[in-house]
Amino acid sequence: MDLIDQLREIVGERVSAAPSVRYCYSTDASQVKGMPDYVVRPMSTEEVSKVVTLASSLGVPVTARGAGTGLAGGAVPLRGGIVLDMSGMNRILEMDLANLQVIVEPGVVQAKLNDGLKPHGFFFPPDPGSSNICTIGGLIANNGSGMRCVKYGTTRNYVLDLEVVCASGRVIRTGSRMLKSAAGYDLTRLMIGSEGTLGIITKAGLRVVPLPKARRLVMASFEDAETAGMAVAKTFSSGIVPSACEILDRTTIQVLKLCDPNLVLPEGDVILFEVDGTEGSTAELAQKIAEVCSPFAAEIVMAGGEKEMEEIWEARRLVGAAISRLDPTKSRIYVGEDVGVPIKKIPALIREIGEISEKFDLPAMKYGHIGDGNLHVALFIDVMEKDEWTRLAAAADAIHRAAIRLGGTVSSEHGIGAARAEYMKTQWGEGTLSVMRAIKQALDPKGILNPGKLGLDESPSSGGR
Ligand code: LAC
Ligand code: ZN
Repeated sequence: MDLIDQLREIVGERVSAAPSVRYCYSTDASQVKGMPDYVVRPMSTEEVSKVVTLASSLGVPVTARGAGTGLAGGAVPLRGGIVLDMSGMNRILEMDLANLQVIVEPGVVQAKLNDGLKPHGFFFPPDPGSSNICTIGGLIANNGSGMRCVKYGTTRNYVLDLEVVCASGRVIRTGSRMLKSAAGYDLTRLMIGSEGTLGIITKAGLRVVPLPKARRLVMASFEDAETAGMAVAKTFSSGIVPSACEILDRTTIQVLKLCDPNLVLPEGDVILFEVDGTEGSTAELAQKIAEVCSPFAAEIVMAGGEKEMEEIWEARRLVGAAISRLDPTKSRIYVGEDVGVPIKKIPALIREIGEISEKFDLPAMKYGHIGDGNLHVALFIDVMEKDEWTRLAAAADAIHRAAIRLGGTVSSEHGIGAARAEYMKTQWGEGTLSVMRAIKQALDPKGILNPGKLGLDESPSSGGR
């Protein structure tokens, strides 16, 4: 029997080998491309398990995919095979709020989970720019984070339990309903950020936290981004922990104003500091931030009410998509754009990015989660110009290497996927990488789960950008 017929026996009509469908699954939000042979849309753990058992018996690659918002090619099937579109498994199964947790399927959209939690007075803090589309499974597979990480941590801090389909097709659980456990290896953490290379997540128990009663937004603008970085470092060393701390450099501000001229944002290189807590504590924290920043800042403004704050955050979410507005003939390219360094090194990183941008004569916009040391660098090229692609690759490479040299990371939240696989050895060294490869070998001896990713192959395929 053909593989497609065997897959049909498991999922009925929820499988396709049509070129038009396969094409839609051949990339994510990055430049990485890879065509699957089959697209399967499972609706249950049992179906995932049966598909993986079949794939394992035939040595066919299986790549799990959420909403496809990934920026490093993590969900792109580099070696073909089966793409498992997990977005149909999208039920919130249980709100176990007495245990401060929810049980969800992997296809639940982040914002939908928070819509469901809000009436109960709770929220799930990891909040990436793509929160209106991205799925919990994708967030877990990449250890996603976004805006609130600076106070609340990354997805890793909220996963208590996973149901996982292993490479053999066997279903396991990695945790429990307990808020803590000291019983053996932490397989939950091992799965988080493993980008579908060790198992396929079919259910998750997530910790949630009470919604704060109040929040405030302080917007500080600076003469240059490096000074903004200094103000951030000073804020942290003064013992202030904002609930979000984002940089929008002057070009990013320009882009946002092109999209919405009514947006209330200062000019210059801007830091958005959000604080949350009670009315009293947020007023006090906002005041302290203004005091600490004032020797560095050109202007400091407090956002008005909840509505204005929401508009500003919504605009912030748009940045990635909006940047091409600056020059419609050019394209913003997602490379070198998720680096992170220790807070103290942020001014140095900003300086180096400026030098790199000048050296390769490519505009580089900076925005993102500066409070986590995480900068998104958006390089801008004319995609029709071959020479610009060459300079882009060199500039991106220099940015990645600068981040590693400054004691940071080539990916703070988007993951390694294929786009950054070539840096794994420089990032970790041969010793650590060989331990990762041994884990992969033990859990997926046939190498069927999302092959070609994370630089785990002996000769990693870069997969292109
Ligand atoms: C953001 C994405 C690019 O922060 O991570 O907008
Ligand atoms: Zn981000």
